[in-house]
Amino acid sequence: MNSTQIRKRFLDYFKAKGHEVLPGSSLIPADPTVLLTLAGMLQFKPIFLGTEIPKYKRATTVQKCVRMIDLENVGKTARHQTFFEMLGNFSFGDYFKKEAIAFVWEFLTKELKIPPAKLSVAVFEKDDEAYDLWREDQGLPAEKLFRLDEENNFWAAGPTGPCGPCSEIYYDLGPSVGCGRPSCQPGCDCDRFLEVWNLVFIQYDRSDNGELIPLKQRGIDTGMGLERIASVLQGVSSNFETDLFRPLIQEIKTLIKLPEPEESKLRIIADHIRAVTHLVADGVLPGNAGREYVLRRLIRRALRLGLVLGIKGPFLWRLAEKVILEMGDFYPNLKKKKEQILATIKAEETNFLQTLELGMQLFNQAILEHTGKKVLPGEVVFKLHDTYGFPFELAGEMAAEQGYSINEQEFKKEMEKQRERARLAGISSDKNKSKLVGLDLTRFGRTKFDGYEKTSEAAGVVAVLPKENLVILDQSPFYAESGGQVGDTGTIMLDQQHLKVIDTLLAPSGSIVHLLEQTGDLAPGAKVVAAIETERRKIIQGHHTATHLLHKALQEKVGAQVRQAGSYVGPDKLRFDFSCLAAVSQEQLAAVEARVNEKIKEKIKVEVLEKSYQEAVALGAMALFGEKYGDKVRVLKIGHYSLELCGGTHVKSTEEIGFFKIIHESALGSGTRRIEAVAGQPAIDYVMGLVNSWQAEILKTTSHYQALMTELGQAQKGGKLIVVEPAALLQAIKKYDLKSVNQYLDQLAATLANLKEGVAKAERELKNLKINQAASSAAGFVRELVEINGLKVLTKEFQDYSMQMLRSVSDTLQNQTGGCLVILVSLANSKVSFLITVGDNLIAKGLAAPKVAAVFTPFIKGRGGGKANKVEGGGQDSSRLAEAFQAVIDLVKANL
Ligand code: SER
Repeated sequence: MNSTQIRKRFLDYFKAKGHEVLPGSSLIPADPTVLLTLAGMLQFKPIFLGTEIPKYKRATTVQKCVRMIDLENVGKTARHQTFFEMLGNFSFGDYFKKEAIAFVWEFLTKELKIPPAKLSVAVFEKDDEAYDLWREDQGLPAEKLFRLDEENNFWAAGPTGPCGPCSEIYYDLGPSVGCGRPSCQPGCDCDRFLEVWNLVFIQYDRSDNGELIPLKQRGIDTGMGLERIASVLQGVSSNFETDLFRPLIQEIKTLIKLPEPEESKLRIIADHIRAVTHLVADGVLPGNAGREYVLRRLIRRALRLGLVLGIKGPFLWRLAEKVILEMGDFYPNLKKKKEQILATIKAEETNFLQTLELGMQLFNQAILEHTGKKVLPGEVVFKLHDTYGFPFELAGEMAAEQGYSINEQEFKKEMEKQRERARLAGISSDKNKSKLVGLDLTRFGRTKFDGYEKTSEAAGVVAVLPKENLVILDQSPFYAESGGQVGDTGTIMLDQQHLKVIDTLLAPSGSIVHLLEQTGDLAPGAKVVAAIETERRKIIQGHHTATHLLHKALQEKVGAQVRQAGSYVGPDKLRFDFSCLAAVSQEQLAAVEARVNEKIKEKIKVEVLEKSYQEAVALGAMALFGEKYGDKVRVLKIGHYSLELCGGTHVKSTEEIGFFKIIHESALGSGTRRIEAVAGQPAIDYVMGLVNSWQAEILKTTSHYQALMTELGQAQKGGKLIVVEPAALLQAIKKYDLKSVNQYLDQLAATLANLKEGVAKAERELKNLKINQAASSAAGFVRELVEINGLKVLTKEFQDYSMQMLRSVSDTLQNQTGGCLVILVSLANSKVSFLITVGDNLIAKGLAAPKVAAVFTPFIKGRGGGKANKVEGGGQDSSRLAEAFQAVIDLVKANL
């Protein structure tokens, strides 16, 4: 039986037993307590807990799962994977142990025709009820029944939540496969007894403090590993030899250059690429934290193994294509997102390959340097992580391969230092949001949000936290920060008191939490009126709808693979981060900007559709993740142009957005880019601000230019001042006349650049002019030379002379006299610059320039440097200059 047939047999069987066949959920769980979907029951957690009413009493699913807990075992055992499919049946307060056991036994022995002699069963040691059911109802002999402890036979999806004793069914692969110990039995670590199915009898909710609280209605959660049951039915000794893996491993072999590749490495790569493909399909992008990090780690881990096996360049994306081909029929999502999946994986591969080699050099060098202790210092591991993108664990694995360990303590210290640097640089997490940390607001539940329709309404106060200045109402028009859109500000009015709301936050439990300057007389039960700041909200809404237009325009003009990776939608601007492989060109950006303005100008109606999850998928809405079957979702529809899931608030027509302008585009690293843009009033302010500041700079530069020209004694050429009429500019903005606006901006930029060039040229001319003037004035100074015993000496003081000017004076004098002693000083802003030159005749008489300088500089608190016939330098004090000159004269006299 191939895997497709097994899935179908399973679902058909339970359908016939009254179960509703439901789709599995995304790998990104709605449940915030776990990172990734790790079991079929996860999407039903609220039902088991009794907080959600089920639509059906019985359900059955095929659920894709990722479990990182087994990562180390992948490739080492026949039965562990990170990605696997779980076949499950569920009862929500309907049947319990008796029927669950009967279904499972019938399915295995009658439907799949597995000989009962091959099967053994374990129950929780204290669960006599289950033991008796197996014994009496199904007639299992006692030697096939085992009682195991809590660690083995008590199941929970996490530290808290629904859980209960379980019963596991094992397939015996025979003594030849396992450890051979006489004590070997179900639950042993070896490969002999293969656990194929787990039946959890859910009857408790584990509370935060670990207490087991009996659930009002009990349930059943079972899970059978598809790959494992396939291995049994296909008579192979490992999951990796089933039809689920064989074609993939074959494909990897064709890429490998080594003659005898290590089987375990092939298996790891095959496992990881299945996880990676599904993770990306469900909307995870490689990154540095949480599930993004899991994805990155899997890609980089598999990529490195590929290199070890001799594969050159990116190859995982090609394997992903094979995964899509093999699994795309059952998971159509894969086919639909194919292009994006391949592009994302390839980008991450390329990205890592770029630094991998350099990182390996560093790694190998560190290995050589630490052969003695066999411990790699944390600093090296940190550098591999920070500079070369090696996940910490990957460095650890590579070190272990060579018999080394790594100093984790030191690594953590380096990470801490880096965080501190980031904190000092002002990159800290949102201050307001942190106010909610540590507060348990669950008892206040979900606040009714009315802000889609209303900007103000009457409401009742539910809770006040005066110390934190937080207030919760029973209903509110205030949008709480989520999905990138910032929280509203406004006022809560209690009789005559107007209390200012400075931010609105969303508690994990769904409460809308208003952050106030002060809570005044607010108390639970009080009646208030809550009103948001409407002008600010309008701008935010414009930015939000513009973000959707931008997303779509990027997909049109830059590439279909562009996907949102994060966003900020505020009153000041919008920021949009997106995955993109290559740099975005100026032309593309201009085209995107033009396209968004075009769509605004078209006055397209913006509508919100309330859809079921399946309907939204069918409509092709973007960014479906986190939602699950049965949810109502909001789909934002901008005419026929854009369709996106969104819980935010939006304008009613694109016309309301106003002019749209991109202000910045940059790379965020790792195939992610960022665009910052403004719309509406902020866009007008931005453009006008830009024009004003350029005009001011042009004015300033023009007057500087004019002054220079006057000094040069030349007529003013060039430097024509362009004045953009504010009214004309505003007109262009209002008409979405992007071309004119950009023309104005370009003109101003060009004018300024021209002007600056003119200034630079004039400054050069003036400098040369002054040097020449200085040289010609030097002729006049010959008369000022003093003769001391046949040697000519000049000491002279100037204002604001550059060193070049001093040099040209000195050169002229030395030339005309055929050798003399010249000390020239220029004073500027109480600073002294000096130049001392001597002719060869003076050097011959023992009067080299450094000797003169040694006498001269103490008086001016200065220093200088040079050679025998020239010393240049500066000093701090000009008050004793006359004495300094005299000291030099005295030196000359004394020397002769
Ligand atoms: N939730 C149980 C498991 O994951 C049974 O589905 O094993």
